[in-house]
Amino acid sequence: MIAITGATGHLGQLTIDVLLERGTPASEIVALARNPEKALGLAAKGVAVRLADYTLPDTLNAALEGIDKLLLISSNDVVDRATPQRNVVDAAKAVGVKSLAYTSILRADTADMKMAADHKTTEEAIRASGVPFVFLRNGWYMENYNVAQAAQSGTLAGSAGDGRISAASRADYAAAAAAALTLPDQDNTIYELGGDSAFTLEELAAEIATQSGRPVTYQDMPETAYFEMLKGFGLPAPLADKLADADANAQEGELHSDSGDLGRLIGRPTTTLKEAVQAGLAG
Ligand SMILES: NC(=O)c1ccc[n+]([C@@H]2O[C@H](COP(=O)([O-])OP(=O)(O)OC[C@H]3O[C@@H](n4cnc5c(N)ncnc54)[C@H](OP(=O)(O)O)[C@@H]3O)[C@@H](O)[C@H]2O)c1
Repeated sequence: MIAITGATGHLGQLTIDVLLERGTPASEIVALARNPEKALGLAAKGVAVRLADYTLPDTLNAALEGIDKLLLISSNDVVDRATPQRNVVDAAKAVGVKSLAYTSILRADTADMKMAADHKTTEEAIRASGVPFVFLRNGWYMENYNVAQAAQSGTLAGSAGDGRISAASRADYAAAAAAALTLPDQDNTIYELGGDSAFTLEELAAEIATQSGRPVTYQDMPETAYFEMLKGFGLPAPLADKLADADANAQEGELHSDSGDLGRLIGRPTTTLKEAVQAGLAG
């Protein structure tokens, strides 16, 4: 039995779709959701839905009963992910889960960016638990960039300078997660996952301009100004802070990986910049 936490989120749903497409029977998949009422579409695909809230330890042992392989999708709590995710790790150990895959971040153990701290803590908790693990250290999502908005406004803003970003689509990362859950010999493996080719934000702006037929330029700004801009768009301050910090760290290569792990794991090329911009403009 394979269980996926955060199953109602983008990555969780895509991962379950890939598992089903690749032949895992629906009867062997459990979708774990903190809001099971959001999982009606998943239930319609024949997968079991169980309640699992990382912040409610009482829900977790029951949710993981009989599970062999667990994908822990990192929480979207921007203030503290590590404490709730620790509850999931403890429950996985308590019920005897045989393999725990976790969606982490590039080089979580050494990365400087603020976003990496919770991932590092969770990776350490998983290692300490003794449960065999797979760390899916995901790079940036292509979908983080609002391509349509940049085409409309003529500006793509950021603090990444000429840092190269190895972004890939969520669908690529979902395919990687599904592979890690189903391929043999995955115990205690660490994947540094990123797109086959990297781009700067200036190159991204140029691609958006080419495809939209409108002028689009990259506006590089100091980290504090970018933080204020993101807050002005309505993002909560802790999220704006981590995103601006991540962008600034992109200048030091923190969003870049040339490991090739993602393409190898999914057995196909990753989504190209051109394809991602096409998808973004199509909405
Ligand atoms: N690499 C990147 O560029 C990047 C970008 C964005 C996010 N991320 C990380 O990757 C994760 C997955 O991405 P995504 O696009 O699928 O995000 P998403 O659509 O926001 O999904 C997050 C999922 O986590 C669930 N969740 C949050 N807190 C939970 C809790 N306490 N207990 C149980 N479930 C909880 C959410 O449940 P609900 O559906 O009930 O809200 C949702 O299903 C994110 O959560 C974030 O950690 C990475």
